[in-house]
Amino acid sequence: MIIKHIKVYTRPGKAEAFIASQAIWNREMARSPACLSRHCARSSGDPSIFFIWILWRSRAEYDHWMATEHDAIAELARASDWYERLEVSLLDPLTTAGGDLAPFPDPPTVTDAAGIQGLSEGYKLSAALRLAVASGLFSQLERGGEGTAQLAAATHLDPSLCGRLLAVLRAAGLVVAEGERWRNSWVAQRYLVQDAPAYQGHMVLHNTRPALVRRWFSLLTPFDTEQPEAERHATFVRAMGDTARAGQAKLLADNLDLSGCHSLLDVGGGAGEYAVALCRANPGLHATVVDLPATQPLFDEVVAAAELADRLRFFAADYRAGGLPGPHDRVLYSNVLRGLTDAEIAAQLHLAAAVLQPGGRLIVHDLFPEPEAGPSGLGAALFGLHLPAAANLERARLEAILGENGFHVTRSVRLPDPVVMNGIIEAQRGGEV
Ligand SMILES: C[S@@+](CC[C@H](N)C(=O)[O-])C[C@H]1O[C@@H](n2cnc3c(N)ncnc32)[C@H](O)[C@@H]1O
Repeated sequence: MIIKHIKVYTRPGKAEAFIASQAIWNREMARSPACLSRHCARSSGDPSIFFIWILWRSRAEYDHWMATEHDAIAELARASDWYERLEVSLLDPLTTAGGDLAPFPDPPTVTDAAGIQGLSEGYKLSAALRLAVASGLFSQLERGGEGTAQLAAATHLDPSLCGRLLAVLRAAGLVVAEGERWRNSWVAQRYLVQDAPAYQGHMVLHNTRPALVRRWFSLLTPFDTEQPEAERHATFVRAMGDTARAGQAKLLADNLDLSGCHSLLDVGGGAGEYAVALCRANPGLHATVVDLPATQPLFDEVVAAAELADRLRFFAADYRAGGLPGPHDRVLYSNVLRGLTDAEIAAQLHLAAAVLQPGGRLIVHDLFPEPEAGPSGLGAALFGLHLPAAANLERARLEAILGENGFHVTRSVRLPDPVVMNGIIEAQRGGEV
């Protein structure tokens, strides 16, 4: 999180006009999910002076908003007509700096689709927290910063599970990585280390005990039947569509330059929401979506509703079996590679290379684990916790794997305000420009 602090000296007699223009700023900033809250105050000593604090989820998202939204709002609010001078500071809240510093309070964060998805995954975080407390991980860490293997040995956790658990705890802000070693964050130190005065571990163990969890899940009884496979697949594909419609498809289309491209292959493209968004944004583009045969009826619905049947086609196939249709200017893997193993990723890169036109590009749009604590990285780390075989690669690691498989990365970006997928990598076959 960062805080923007502004001290405003209004022109004589213009304080009320300034307040009206600030209301416009507040309304417009609230449209960005990354703008967590806005607070305004008036100096009690001089009523012509105001103070504004704006909380942003991250520096990267603030910078993106400044580059894309700020100037249009400034024109709309015309605040500069009412003030003489501004003093602006960007502040880093001291949330992890040490035991005695009060943390800056996080405002409520469920204001968007990503927040709702996060709520639906809360039980996963409960399980991770129970595992960490019950195994004594935080107390072990307090005895000295240690590497993953030592921690696994000391807590009797499987080393792979221990590493994936630590990734979740890091994303939740409970542990901090320093090179190869781990330490507790100040929150864990204060609340999760046995014998700490404010220890909450008994409460965690009480709240997450298996019998209680079972009782809570028994509330689901009227709705707890597993769907038959065909319905389960349809719900899964539609769930991916929920993410696309909540803004992720637009985010992808807004962040890709496909000018001059005529043909896109979307591997594991689901019901086609991303291919539709890319065709809409690029009138010369045609797209082929490869997915399992069971997905075709859902694709047909989406494409008919978009009235794009003349530019999109479905190719029913198992992408693991090879034989992708081609050639294409672009091959897209959206939200697919993170769930594959390293070997399967290498196989897909080989298949993609075979169907790319000379000079064509591979596009990976995915949810990448992140080194800093935050909601996006937490989603990625939770994904990795329950799927041990999934590669779940950080962006830098996938860039390296692309290089090892004959691709040259031409662009790699973190996406601001994602619903789920937080990065795009574009790559060409090595040597091509
Ligand atoms: C996680 S979803 C991603 C969907 C979409 N690309 C997106 O970004 O939301 C994975 C997709 O791959 C499809 N899929 C899974 N295994 C497959 C396989 N072996 N061959 C073809 N498609 C497959 C699934 O049906 C699903 O549509």
